[in-house]
Amino acid sequence: MKNRIYAAHWEDYELIDAGNGLKLERWGKYITVRPDVNAYFQPQLSKQEWDRKAHFIFKEEKGVFGTWLNKGNLPLNWEIEFEGVRLCVFLKNTKHTGVFPEQNLNWKAIKEFVTSEDSFLNLFGYTGASSMMALANQASVFHVDSSKSAMAWTKENARLNKFDGCKLVLEDVVLFMEREIKRKHQYELIQMDPPAWGIGTKGKKWQLENHIDLLMSLAAQLLKPKGQLIVSTYSAKITPLTLKETAEIYFPNRTFRTGMLATKSTTGKALDHGSLLHIF
Ligand SMILES: C[S@@+](CC[C@H](N)C(=O)[O-])C[C@H]1O[C@@H](n2cnc3c(N)ncnc32)[C@H](O)[C@@H]1O
Repeated sequence: MKNRIYAAHWEDYELIDAGNGLKLERWGKYITVRPDVNAYFQPQLSKQEWDRKAHFIFKEEKGVFGTWLNKGNLPLNWEIEFEGVRLCVFLKNTKHTGVFPEQNLNWKAIKEFVTSEDSFLNLFGYTGASSMMALANQASVFHVDSSKSAMAWTKENARLNKFDGCKLVLEDVVLFMEREIKRKHQYELIQMDPPAWGIGTKGKKWQLENHIDLLMSLAAQLLKPKGQLIVSTYSAKITPLTLKETAEIYFPNRTFRTGMLATKSTTGKALDHGSLLHIF
């Protein structure tokens, strides 16, 4: 039996249905169809119903890359909102939209925890959804990502919300963490959302399963004694048990929960995303 932790639907996001390797999602007023390997089961709605509902359908060409079929000559970018924070959805040449909606559970935890007195370190920060949640509470935010386009998108999200002061660090996460440890910096809140594989120093590709232990040991040195750590992983090789066992090594006296981050579709399908750890 999987220990699933379900993300909630919110007004501007709904997983309508999933199945046949695809998901049908509503982002504000627009509906997309895109691939998801975890949707290995049969969908609830018929293909005709999916086709009738969808505004955009992603056609995979190579890996995550491909093209969006735009059924109504609609704009390719628009805004959605989570608890007053605006996020830019942008359909480019990959299946990703700039927002991982299942992360709303972490956004809620961030909004409930950080205050204007706190520092938040957002590692592998991508387009900055979590950074925006902490900025909404006037926390000091250090957003680290090695992708220039992710940084530009984060700036755009900050501009949409009229947030300033987000410290953008365009760098390899491990190098930044090691430097921060030398500087004896610590944070009240750290989030790590590492991809299944990453590009490290000197363009070297790494697999998360060989890196998770290092990332957790560095995070343990950067977290204040009563700080919170949120880790989410999207790799089949990192299970909730892996995160639990690693947390027991590096955070032996802390309370935490682990589980499989999942979303329940409106039609009742359980779609898994990856493993989640929250040390609180
Ligand atoms: C899965 S996304 C994070 C999603 C994000 N936390 C969210 O919920 O919106 C992974 C991000 O890690 C970045 N990345 C990959 N390898 C990296 C590295 N070695 N150092 C810094 N960033 C890296 C990618 O550019 C990408 O933006």
